[in-house]
Order: sequence, then structure tokens, then C-alpha cells
Amino acid sequence: MYRNKTCGELRLADAGKTVTLAGWVQRVRKMGGMTFIDLRDRYGITQLSFDEGANADIFAEANKLGREYVIQATGVVKERYSKNLQLPTGEIEIEVTTLTVLNPAITPPFTIEDETDGGDDIRMKYRYLDLRRNAVRKNLELRHKMAFEVRRYLDEQGFLEVETPVLVNSTPEGARDFIVPSRMNSGQFYALPQSPQTLKQLLMVSGFDRYFQIVKCFRDEDLRADRQPEFTQIDCEMSFVEQEDILQMFEGMSRHLFKSILGIDIPALPRMTWADAMKYYGSDKPDTRFDMRFVELHDLFHSHPGFGVFDGAAYIGGICAKGAASYTRKQLDALTDFVRRPQIGAKGMVYARVEQDGCVKSSVDKFYSQEVLQQLKEKMQAEAGDLILILSGDDAMRTRKQLCELRLETGRQLGLRDPKKFSLLWVIDFPMYEWSDEEQRLMAMHHPFTSPKPEDIPLLDTDPAAVRANAYDMVINGVEVGGGSIRIHDAKLQEKVFEILGFTPEQAQTKFGFLMNAFKYGAPPHGGLAYGLDRFVSLFAGLDSIRDCIAFPKNNQGRDVMLGAPGLVDQSQLDELKIAVIAH
Ligand code: AMO
Repeated sequence: MYRNKTCGELRLADAGKTVTLAGWVQRVRKMGGMTFIDLRDRYGITQLSFDEGANADIFAEANKLGREYVIQATGVVKERYSKNLQLPTGEIEIEVTTLTVLNPAITPPFTIEDETDGGDDIRMKYRYLDLRRNAVRKNLELRHKMAFEVRRYLDEQGFLEVETPVLVNSTPEGARDFIVPSRMNSGQFYALPQSPQTLKQLLMVSGFDRYFQIVKCFRDEDLRADRQPEFTQIDCEMSFVEQEDILQMFEGMSRHLFKSILGIDIPALPRMTWADAMKYYGSDKPDTRFDMRFVELHDLFHSHPGFGVFDGAAYIGGICAKGAASYTRKQLDALTDFVRRPQIGAKGMVYARVEQDGCVKSSVDKFYSQEVLQQLKEKMQAEAGDLILILSGDDAMRTRKQLCELRLETGRQLGLRDPKKFSLLWVIDFPMYEWSDEEQRLMAMHHPFTSPKPEDIPLLDTDPAAVRANAYDMVINGVEVGGGSIRIHDAKLQEKVFEILGFTPEQAQTKFGFLMNAFKYGAPPHGGLAYGLDRFVSLFAGLDSIRDCIAFPKNNQGRDVMLGAPGLVDQSQLDELKIAVIAH
């Protein structure tokens, strides 16, 4: 037996017991005639002690150990003289009587500590060492627990986990596909699924009724902190349901996760229409941990012309930062620089402070009387000590998005985005379509299988851009954790939606014939959603990037620097696939 205890479990009550532990040498501390070793395994750290006076041979062996050696140690549990109450095992140590080196180790390229000296790149290259660190390991433990609780909840609700294939066909909507050449069908390609969307709908046609799958999805898109080219969805679908049934079911699942994992009771989720989310927060995933809603100011400023920038603006919106009138000129200049950055693109920012006596002092004082500024104060519901920040622009949607960034940054600076506080909501009534400048056509905002709201179906013929969908997203702290929709189950309506998306009947038949034909054999009304498991876990763990809750993530260039993927393959493999690589 390699061990009979782990490095995390011994306590003062175990004093006197003889135990055997195995693990990695975290640290060796030599203090004259005594040597102490921190032994680490997945469960914790236990101090081993070696006394030259008591056993000179073992003491000498211990002094030869290096960091990350794998060892086995047998000894007696003793109460420590100097206790470390930060560690669960910090009241005891093991006085070692037998020591075995199971495997030596070369010196790791960075320290395996909570606060490591290794930068991002080196930790990714040696990810198996990075995973030895507490901070990273506990994220994977959390991930396991969350996936487990998801399965428990869905199983209790009668959902079946069904696996769908990874080698599928390429679909034209959504992100770019990863494609895989087929050797047996030369010149043809599989695609890796961006999600099992069509397959789960087919399972509904098959009568499975309640399906889920914790499943890898693949999207060849530009990476960000909350995006990986391969990520995991909690993918779900239900039959004989309306939107309300789905919202209830998955609100329940989220509540279950918060309660069982974090011990937090989440109140009923508020619902906000997409139109309101854009109007009040400039985003379809508003961070509702704090208020600071947008107030539209064009009526006020257009009825009191004076400042050229506002006079000609299609949209003027403000936010009120409570208690922030003390912002210095330097801080305000920094905020102005922030909104002017090319990624945000605002031309400038106007500010107004409400002084203690109620007077408003603004950066546009010379254009507006105190009376107009007092009206501004009232509209913004600002009080003494508050700071009003205003952006304007020619394009309402673009300006709202800029104001959204300003709101988030101001909220961050004021400490209003506490990662330990959670604010959940449903955003509902998304538009069916959005215009793509790139493609010069309407695109499905969610995906082409999403059902329009029944009352908006007549608009498909007259004003498709105005059609709202039975689509919903769950948003937590400004992150879209999940999204889904009620699906079209009527082949005729599906044909019409494809037509608006610009597919000829032949193209639609080639790409989606399998689904439309299936619907002719009796498709139940159905709908579903998918959560991004990586995003859900990183929210629970309070992480900035989903990378930290993925065992082996890709870097910003989509590379796995540890495996060296993507990489070159042998010419013979290419020949077999009849693929010629053109070198650039
Ligand atoms: P959607 O495309 O909205 O819907 O994806 C569902 C959820 O998956 C997560 N997600 C991602 N996470 C990490 N990296 C990515 N690149 C990434 N892309 C998406 C998000 C998102 O909310 N088939 C539909 C669902 C349905 O209609 O049932 C779908 O895939 O958290």
C-alpha cells in the first residue's frame, strides 16, 4: 500500500498514530539539526519533520530531496511546537521513520505555489505542473461538482443524457466550422459541431422528450476571455413545452446550483425584454449587480440648443454615478480617454457634478444655464455628491454600446461589480434577425430554427427585421451564461424563415433537408437552451477568464502550446487524404 492517509486529513486528534503518506515535495526547510518538508497531494499539505538527533540516516536522506520529488513517508503523528493555523493540518507534523523516493524530479520551471513566479506562457506550456497548484486544481474540483449537480437535477426532472456525434456536417449559419477531411470520401469533409442543435431537435422528433448532454462544442471564432474554440455546453431540449416551461425548468436548475454549491438562495429571476436591455443598459447582457441605468437626454438638450455636439446628435444618454462627484479632473480625463479608445470609439464625454449645495457644475457650463442643468439633475435623479456622465452620437445603437462600456468601467471603479455578489435575469423577446453589413443580408440572431413570436408571424412578409423571437438568454453579472429558444416545428414556417435568410429552396434542402423532412413525420412542439459550462464555472469561481477552469485550454492564438497543436502532419497522411498544402 502506497499510503493509508492523504496529506489533507490528519488533525490533532490523530496524534500518536503511525501513518503512511505519499505525495510531492513542495518545500524543504533546513534548520540546523532539523529539516521540515511540506508534502503535497490533491487533498492538502502535511509537514514532515526529520530530527538529526533522532535518526541521522533519514535526516541525511531528507536533505537530499528536491522540489517535486515523489516520496512516500511513514511516521508518527505529533503535535507541532509552532502551529500554522492557516492550514487544516497545521497543528500536527509527521516524525518520519521510513522515507522512500518513489521518483525524483527535475526542478520545475516555476514554483508550484498559490502565488507562483511563472508567467502565463510558461504555465500553459507546463500545464500539468500548473494543475498541481491549489488555485487551478480547485477550479477543476468546482467544475466537477457543478457538472455533477447539473446531472443530478436534470436526472431528477426526467432528462436523459444522450451522446450525439462529433463528426457531423457543416452548417452555414453561426461561427466558422472546424472541418475534418474524410479519407474514405475523398474531397469531402466533416465538421465538428458548433452545438448539437439539429441533432437534439431530431431526438425530439424521435420522442425522447427531455434530453440533455454535457458536450464539447467547437467554433472557429476570435478568442476572448469568455471564449474558447472548444468549450462545453450543458445542452438541453424539451418537447411539448412553451417558453414559460423552459424558463421555469432552468431557473430551477440555476437555483439548485447556487444553493447546492455556494449555499446561496437566488430569488425568482427578473425578466427584461431585449429592447429594454438595450435601452437601459446598451447591452443584451446587462450587469444588473448595480443600477446606473441609462437616461435618455435628447429631448432635454434638443429643446435647449447651444452645444453643437449635442444639438446634432441622434442619441444623448447619461448615467448617474452615486457619490462620485469627488472624482478628480485626472480621473475624469482618464474616463474620457477610456471611451475614446478605438475599441470603444466615442468622440468625447460630458460630465456634471452635483455639488453639496445642489448646484450643478459641468464641463458644458458655458452652453447651458443652471436652470437647464437643474433639469438634467432631475431627469437623472441625481443628488448632492453624484456625478453625471453623458455620451452622444449619430448612431443610437453604437452610442448605447459606448455608454454601456462607460457604465461598466465606472461600476468597476466604484467597486460595484463584486464577483461574490450574483445578479441573475432572463433577457427575452430577442429580435429574430439582425442585419449583417458584411453579408448584406438578414442573419438569424439566435439560429435559423428559432420560432418567431406567434403574434409577429405576419410581419415575416412585411417587416422581417421587426419580428421578435421566442428566444431567451440567462444573464449573470453581465455574462451570457445560457441561451435558447422555442423551435419552429412546422416545415412550412421553417421554409419561410430560410427564405428570409436568403437560402433558395434547393440550398435549404441541401443543408437542412434532413431536419425539414424529419419534421414531416410528426415533430412535437419543442424548445430548449444551452448553458456554457465554462462560463458558469468561472462565474462561480470568480475568475476573469474561462481558461482557468479548463484543464487544458487554448491560448489566444487558438494554440495548445503544451501539445504543440495545431501542428504539421506527415506528407503520407496528407497524401492519403489527397490534400495538397500550399505553403504561405
Ligand atoms: P449559443 O450559441 O447561445 O446557443 O451557445 C450557448 C452558450 O454557450 C456558451 N458559449 C461559449 N462558451 C465558451 N466559448 C465559446 N466560444 C462559446 N460560445 C458559446 C455561452 C452561450 O450562452 N444551440 C444553441 C442553444 C439552443 O438554442 O438550445 C446554442 O449553441 O454561454
